[in-house]
Amino acid sequence: MVRVSASLLAADFICIADDVARMEQAGVDSLHVDFMDGHYVPNLALSPYHVETLASRTELPLEVHLEIANPDQLLDSFKRFPADMIILQWDTCPQPLTSLERVGDWGTRVGIGLLPLTPIEPVVPYLDKLDMLLLLGVQPGFGGQEIIPGTIEWVAGVGDVRQQYAPDLAIGVDGGVKASNAGELVQAGADVLIMGSGLFNVPDIDGLVRSLKRIRR
Ligand code: DX5
Ligand code: ZN
Repeated sequence: MVRVSASLLAADFICIADDVARMEQAGVDSLHVDFMDGHYVPNLALSPYHVETLASRTELPLEVHLEIANPDQLLDSFKRFPADMIILQWDTCPQPLTSLERVGDWGTRVGIGLLPLTPIEPVVPYLDKLDMLLLLGVQPGFGGQEIIPGTIEWVAGVGDVRQQYAPDLAIGVDGGVKASNAGELVQAGADVLIMGSGLFNVPDIDGLVRSLKRIRR
């Protein structure tokens, strides 16, 4: 079944507890927490402090997306961190296996994120070590952008490679995902729809999550 992950970049931070409760009630599967450092992307976003606070308020799994320049430097500080998954950007990991193993060693699930339209071939040797492959539909840094043309075809190509090398691997799409393109993304191979503005800014969030979960490939 399609999984929906709510990207908190689009939440109202004055009323974050209310927004988290709305997402729980709507039946999302996880919360997506973007870390941004002002170097890898031209923006700042959430931090370990936010994850610790969120973990004390919700049972939903917390997926941390590290959109930061040097994740290796921070990984040790995440050891006792209440995140269920840590997603590293492929182009920030000079030694992907070492970084993936460090996270895996302390039992946290691990993902790799790819910038829009990145060729999948160099990542193939690592696919069977991942819990999720995250495909960015926009240049990272900001919510509310339109999905980049060619993303659906890219997801489909990655989906074929996944079938061949790691059929159980979940493919997530992050950035520009909306009700209007969710069906095509799932048909192409997406298992997890990571949604910020396309989820928080609609009038009937419960109805949207219900309909997303009814999409079949
Ligand atoms: C982009 C972030 C996304 C972002 C998605 O850098 O990784 O998680 O919040 O936002 P929307 O769904 O509004 O494109
Ligand atoms: Zn993200």
